[in-house]
Amino acid sequence: MKKVYIETMGCQMNKSDAERMYGMLEHCGYTQVIEPKDADMLIVNTCSIRKLSEDKAYSQIGVWGKWKKNKPSLKIVFAGCVAQQGGKEVFKRAPYVDLVLGTQRLYELPNLVKRIEEGDRIASYDEIPFEETDIKINRVKGTNAWIPIMEGCNNFCTYCIVPYTRGRERSRKPELIIAEAKKALSEGFKEITLLGQNVDSYGKDLEPYQNLSWLLKQINDIEGKFRIRFVTNYPTDITDELIDTVIESDKVCEYFHIPMQSGDDYTLKKMNRRYDLKTYKKICDHIRSRVKDVTITSDFIAGFPGETEEQFENTLKAMSELELDYSNTAAYSPREGTVAAKWKDLYIPEEVKAERLARLNEHNRECCLISNKKYIGREMEVLIENFEIRKNGNKVITGRTRNNKIVHIPYENDITGEFINVKITNARTWYLNGEVL
Ligand code: SAH
Ligand code: SF4
Ligand code: F3S
Repeated sequence: MKKVYIETMGCQMNKSDAERMYGMLEHCGYTQVIEPKDADMLIVNTCSIRKLSEDKAYSQIGVWGKWKKNKPSLKIVFAGCVAQQGGKEVFKRAPYVDLVLGTQRLYELPNLVKRIEEGDRIASYDEIPFEETDIKINRVKGTNAWIPIMEGCNNFCTYCIVPYTRGRERSRKPELIIAEAKKALSEGFKEITLLGQNVDSYGKDLEPYQNLSWLLKQINDIEGKFRIRFVTNYPTDITDELIDTVIESDKVCEYFHIPMQSGDDYTLKKMNRRYDLKTYKKICDHIRSRVKDVTITSDFIAGFPGETEEQFENTLKAMSELELDYSNTAAYSPREGTVAAKWKDLYIPEEVKAERLARLNEHNRECCLISNKKYIGREMEVLIENFEIRKNGNKVITGRTRNNKIVHIPYENDITGEFINVKITNARTWYLNGEVL
């Protein structure tokens, strides 16, 4: 068999695409290797969310391009979000690339591989998605299976490239999703995470019309002990029906990832987010009042064009007032083609962005610790994900609670994949300590 290696650089959706590419390539006679040096085909599965991730993609194939000089038969594929956006322009920057494969054309891969093996050089990045086919998925081993339910975004937040790289919102057929969930569970996965840029939009384009709550219930009805999660929600799209579904469905976990982006109303408007601080707070309070022990996490951007010190401080304030359990943070990175990238005269200097990001991160650490401390003394169910013998000889299992808190527990054996009840003994910034009951 020929050998293929994929370097994945992006989000969970990107990782999920890689599992699909490996599956499709197996049908084409390729087996997965862990060392790029051993491969006959190298794929860089790129992310475009920030300038840095795009640069990383090009520097990776720069390295691989040099390898091709000694191994002319080596095939190099440039896939993912930067590929969708760059199209055939990629060949100009990286002439050694054999195939540019946009995210919308993922399922065309088997056909294209045959052609590049015959010596063609192809860029496939048409915005009309290549229809999904029934394929094998080579999932990364572990307890959690990622299942995309929808792709694309119609929101066009002014900073964000995703609507240009993932296209318009479209839902996968429920029967495909449910079959995938059943298969993953039969392979031993213990958790299903439904993925989408805006999971709340699920089903709007389906005939008959369905929604996320309906889909969650269908998966909840599958027999067996397992957990269900879903990411990402758009704040104002969360419905009462969804909250009811989380409460009523025993397998659906008490966890919402609801990116806020900024705690300042003016900045939110400039970002084209459809809510203000008050509305976001109302949504959080409502969820917290209804879902016991719920974890709410968020994303924030520091140094959006024109952001004043005072506006930035509103973000810090919001983080604590809303009692957010954890937040992903990033310094604003201008993305060519987006609206905000044009506001060059409003760009915040790099050093100011870096300083704000550092303060945001420090504040996030404080919020996480406060959140974790709430659980000291509590009994919680943990799904074990890992076993490790530390340098000092201590044996530790690590897992997650239903509300997505990481717990470290002293334990003698590897019981990865098991659900155990644990008493929380201590809280750290990023995790809890527990002992088996
Ligand atoms: N669909 C999700 C998030 C997708 S992108 C949502 O609506 O929130 C993931 C995160 O990357 C975003 O939440 C945002 O915080 C961050 N991000 C997006 N574009 C960015 C940019 N240009 N600079 C910095 N961070 C960005
Ligand atoms: Fe990007 Fe906004 Fe769409 Fe999220 S909702 S993917 S941040 S455009
Ligand atoms: Fe994901 Fe990056 Fe694309 S975050 S959707 S891989 S731009």
